[in-house]
Amino acid sequence: MAPHAETTVIKNFEDLNNFCKQIVNKLKGQRRVLLLLSGDLGVGKTKTVEVLLGELGVTQVSSPTYAIHHNYEVKGMNIDHFDLYRIESESDLESTGFWDVFMQPEAWVIVEWADRLQQTKFSPQWVRVEINIELTEQGRIFKTQFC
Ligand SMILES: Nc1ncnc2c1ncn2[C@@H]1O[C@H](COP(=O)(O)OP(=O)(O)OP(=O)(O)O)[C@@H](O)[C@H]1O
Ligand SMILES: [Mg+2]
Repeated sequence: MAPHAETTVIKNFEDLNNFCKQIVNKLKGQRRVLLLLSGDLGVGKTKTVEVLLGELGVTQVSSPTYAIHHNYEVKGMNIDHFDLYRIESESDLESTGFWDVFMQPEAWVIVEWADRLQQTKFSPQWVRVEINIELTEQGRIFKTQFC
């Protein structure tokens, strides 16, 4: 996929559903997908992940509270969801098994609070999508970068 960026204004849940559908459609057929979400407290990261998971076919989304790592398997595909809010150090991160998931030959890795990551170098074998969410008077501005 050629690198490019998009900006989407999201005013409600319907817009969010459409946005997530498009993301999943665009990435169909990719074996390794890394989705990095960033944005201030309460801006809508977890909700976005929930909608994305739904689009990927996950029917039972675990409660995001407290757990740093959730794993889903759907239609033979592995999905790892990390919420790094409580991560304070590299060793915290290591103990969650964060780096291990990149050994998988096929997976979606979805990361909330991706700006907590100190190391931002990822293998080029992963299609990387960075989504930054900002709350404005016009709605939520989603800046998406396909790397
Ligand atoms: N697209 C949207 N349209 C309307 N409301 C939304 C949208 N996305 C999220 N919300 C609402 O905003 C609130 C915060 O969302 P959410 O918990 O997903 O944010 P978050 O970025 O994960 O927060 P935190 O940083 O605290 O983890 C929720 O009440 C959610 O329902
Ligand atoms: Mg959250």
